[in-house]
Amino acid sequence: MKVLVTGGAGYIGSHTCVELINSSIDTVVLDNLCNSSEKSLDRVREITGTSPVFYKGDVRDEALLERIFSENEFDCVIHFAGLKCVPESVKKPAEYYENNLGSTLVLCKVMARHGCKRLVFSSSATVYSAVNEMPLKEDSIKGDCTNPYGWTKYMGERILTDIATADPEWAIALLRYFNPIGAHESGLIGEDPRGIPNNLMPFIAQTAVGRRDRLTVFGNDYNTKDGTGVRDYLHVVDLAKGHVAAIGYIMEHKGAEPINLGTGTGISVLDMVETFKQVNQVDVPYGFGPRRAGDVATCYAQADKAKRLLGWRAEKTLEDMCRDTWRWQSSNPDGYGE
Ligand code: NAD
Ligand code: UD1
Repeated sequence: MKVLVTGGAGYIGSHTCVELINSSIDTVVLDNLCNSSEKSLDRVREITGTSPVFYKGDVRDEALLERIFSENEFDCVIHFAGLKCVPESVKKPAEYYENNLGSTLVLCKVMARHGCKRLVFSSSATVYSAVNEMPLKEDSIKGDCTNPYGWTKYMGERILTDIATADPEWAIALLRYFNPIGAHESGLIGEDPRGIPNNLMPFIAQTAVGRRDRLTVFGNDYNTKDGTGVRDYLHVVDLAKGHVAAIGYIMEHKGAEPINLGTGTGISVLDMVETFKQVNQVDVPYGFGPRRAGDVATCYAQADKAKRLLGWRAEKTLEDMCRDTWRWQSSNPDGYGE
């Protein structure tokens, strides 16, 4: 079995390369390194003993894709490549639509030309509307996205669903990730955001290691158990294993299928800070600030469809997520150092 991983040098992509290689799947990466470092792939080799084949380039470069598909016979593609920074997407919407939708369209065109019609797509819990009751189910209401990034995922799902309807040979898993955090237990690969992190866990980790003075908790007056936002955090290694399980599913089932990947459990910001401090015996100074625009109080998954269809469920604990994040951050205080 041979798989093309677009965006494979990134955070989730590099962890997924490890799980693919550990499952004896030939792994080929295409990444333009716009938000990652090639060092992550060196680390994948350190962990697994095998280097993924690496093509440096853009998924929107049709001539390059044509060459990659001529040089390799893929059983399927995992499409991680995309831009993911919510506030940046508000400032540069056209860039986000062009990159995230353009890459998906070119990829599908070249895949179809080469008769490779199995795809795992990185979607997000952000496709769900804020009007829903929790937990979020795959058939909960979608749309009303609060930013262009969210709309690119919503539209990406729409495009892929229409492609699978028009041509029933396509098999597509639309994986809706909740909040991936953590790092490989080796501490060799992890999340390395450029600039000031937007997301909670990298901000906590960088505060603990001294790169940030203190965490601002965005709002403590939500209708939640301690007033802070509640999310469904899942370990990135569990998420990576979910992709291997999804490949197994699309080898056997056609059509486009949305599937939540989460734990089904909500964790508050303060739960997270306290667990991180306690598990790692480090300080994380924090203070309360106003709510962040566009945030919901609570967001967590109903996770049984993944169990039913993929035979997958998240296994690692919140303590594992905090411990593994800290191992990565404390042994690589500047990430991959680029
Ligand atoms: P990441 O930025 O670490 O990885 C994305 C990778 O894609 C990077 O290595 C980047 O260099 C590459 N890339 C971007 N545009 C490209 C292009 N046009 N051609 C080639 N390479 C390109 O992000 P991640 O956290 O690993 O996320 C992977 C995917 O999962 C993204 O599509 C993201 O939107 C989605 N997702 C992430 C989260 C999350 O919280 N991390 C949640 C839901 C969905
Ligand atoms: C993020 C993305 C969203 C995506 C989701 C799941 C942003 C703005 N949104 O949102 O598009 O669908 O992940 O992948 O990136 N928090 C703080 N202080 C901080 C950072 C965060 O208090 O410095 C709080 C937030 O208010 C929230 C919780 O921590 O309650 C989690 O925030 P974050 O990690 O950004 O995830 P999401 O809000 O789910």
